[in-house]
Amino acid sequence: MFRLSSILLAFITILPLCLAQRPENISICDFYTPSILGENTASNQLLLITIWVNTFVLGNYTTPNIGIPVHGFATPEIYNGTEIALLPYFTGAYNSTNLGGNAGVSKLFLDDGGPVPVLKNMSSNGNTSSAQYQVFNHIYQYFGSIIGCSLQGSPDFPSYQGRTSMYEVHKFMDLDILQMTYFINLVDTAASSLGISLDDASTIGTSLNRAFNTRCASPISISNIDAPSELQSICIAPDCPLDPDNNCSAYPLDGLALAPVNITDNVTVTTGGNGSTIGVPLLLDLLWGLRWIWILNLILLVEN
Ligand code: HEM
Ligand SMILES: *[C@@H]1O[C@H](CO)[C@@H](O)[C@H](O)[C@H]1NC(C)=O
Ligand SMILES: *[C@@H]1O[C@H](CO)[C@@H](O)[C@H](O)[C@H]1NC(C)=O
Ligand SMILES: *[C@@H]1O[C@H](CO)[C@@H](O)[C@H](O)[C@H]1NC(C)=O
Ligand SMILES: *[C@@H]1O[C@H](CO)[C@@H](O)[C@H](O)[C@H]1NC(C)=O
Ligand SMILES: *[C@@H]1O[C@H](CO)[C@@H](O)[C@H](O)[C@H]1NC(C)=O
Ligand SMILES: *[C@@H]1O[C@H](CO)[C@@H](O)[C@H](O)[C@H]1NC(C)=O
Ligand SMILES: *[C@@H]1O[C@H](CO)[C@@H](O)[C@H](O)[C@H]1NC(C)=O
Ligand SMILES: *[C@@H]1O[C@H](CO)[C@@H](O)[C@H](O)[C@H]1NC(C)=O
Ligand SMILES: *[C@@H]1O[C@H](CO)[C@@H](O)[C@H](O)[C@H]1NC(C)=O
Ligand SMILES: *[C@@H]1O[C@H](CO)[C@@H](O)[C@H](O)[C@H]1NC(C)=O
Repeated sequence: MFRLSSILLAFITILPLCLAQRPENISICDFYTPSILGENTASNQLLLITIWVNTFVLGNYTTPNIGIPVHGFATPEIYNGTEIALLPYFTGAYNSTNLGGNAGVSKLFLDDGGPVPVLKNMSSNGNTSSAQYQVFNHIYQYFGSIIGCSLQGSPDFPSYQGRTSMYEVHKFMDLDILQMTYFINLVDTAASSLGISLDDASTIGTSLNRAFNTRCASPISISNIDAPSELQSICIAPDCPLDPDNNCSAYPLDGLALAPVNITDNVTVTTGGNGSTIGVPLLLDLLWGLRWIWILNLILLVEN
């Protein structure tokens, strides 16, 4: 009896220490902004998200850092035995950007300073119409909403201004389970490196995995993002796990992903038994050069 109550007592004295952690009714953003940056203001909330995002992009580059290194996705890294390179999706190397058509197009997102302003806690050099300014700020706003920044919606930290279906944004990237899981782990590690607890970082990771890291997920709305239920699967490659609440027919092509290609890579054309490599522009020139033959064939076809 005595033993049992002293064990209970031990638990009771440990309990307040646990409660010194983030209370459930305070969001991750509202709890850590004052504890890491001093005061809970809209501009400090934006700064917290900025150093978090910039850190998972470039790797740890700034204080605060509690001694946890972060690699960043801007340079390739071996993850689970496979090299993961995410930067090419931002450099225009692939036809992976959704500009509204039926296929992806190549687009450069690093058009306003690249890493230089990012290393100075900024999104870009300040050209507000650049793709770099737009994409970084949209990601700051989205991640701020995801971790519940209550002061968003002011000029110092606007609410999310980008597209709200994450499937539509990423549909031509064909991201797979390793790329996505690698990215989400980086997001978590970057959060911990700033002083966010491991528990809270893994809460973030769990909700990102749940919302975006499965295939064919039924339409949902994302908390704190002002939009109706929409398609949100970002992991759409065949190796992505099927969402527990899936409906592939809600997705174009029944959820089948179009794979992007390296737009500067040469295509190999086989001519008369020998394989020779020829550039895409040259190939198009050749086909154009042969146009009279196609036209002649068409005329002959019609005449017959
Ligand atoms: C949990 C995972 C992810 C979330 C929540 C997320 C969220 C977002 C958001 C909010 C945007 C801005 C959209 C807009 O401006 O309308 C965006 C853009 C983008 N994301 Fe992701 N993302 C994730 C994973 C990834 C991964 C793994 C990649 C791989 C390279 C990636 C590549 C991109 C690119 C290239 C853009 C620019 C697209 C454009 O503006 O057309 N994202 N993402
Ligand atoms: C959170 O809950 C605690 C204890 O129930 C309460 O004292 C506090 O005012 C609440 N905080 C907010 C922001 O609701
Ligand atoms: C990244 O973090 C590690 C661990 O705290 C530290 O040793 C390293 O100096 C940091 N790198 C930069 C560029 O800040
Ligand atoms: C990493 O590789 C192991 C073994 O090959 C596999 O079981 C695991 O699912 C992989 N992890 C991810 C995130 O794909
Ligand atoms: C990229 O272009 C290739 C070749 O034109 C095409 O087969 C592929 O479907 C395109 N991918 C996307 C995602 O649009
Ligand atoms: C970025 O912001 C953090 C937090 O205020 C600060 O400690 C750090 O010095 C800033 N880094 C740069 C490069 O300005
Ligand atoms: C800002 O970026 C846009 C889009 O890339 C570009 O057209 C414009 O020339 C840039 N403006 C300045 C002042 O660099
Ligand atoms: C799946 O999506 C299709 C197309 O939007 C819809 O007609 C159907 O009702 C959905 N099925 C379920 C079970 O929600
Ligand atoms: C794309 O192809 C070009 C030419 O072969 C090559 O230099 C480049 O590294 C490739 N990029 C990627 C991301 O594979
Ligand atoms: C392949 O065949 C083409 C056309 O017959 C010829 O011009 C070219 O030199 C050949 N290439 C090689 C590597 O043999
Ligand atoms: C691609 O093909 C063009 C013309 O056929 C050639 O000049 C160029 O060197 C090739 N590039 C690569 C990376 O093989």
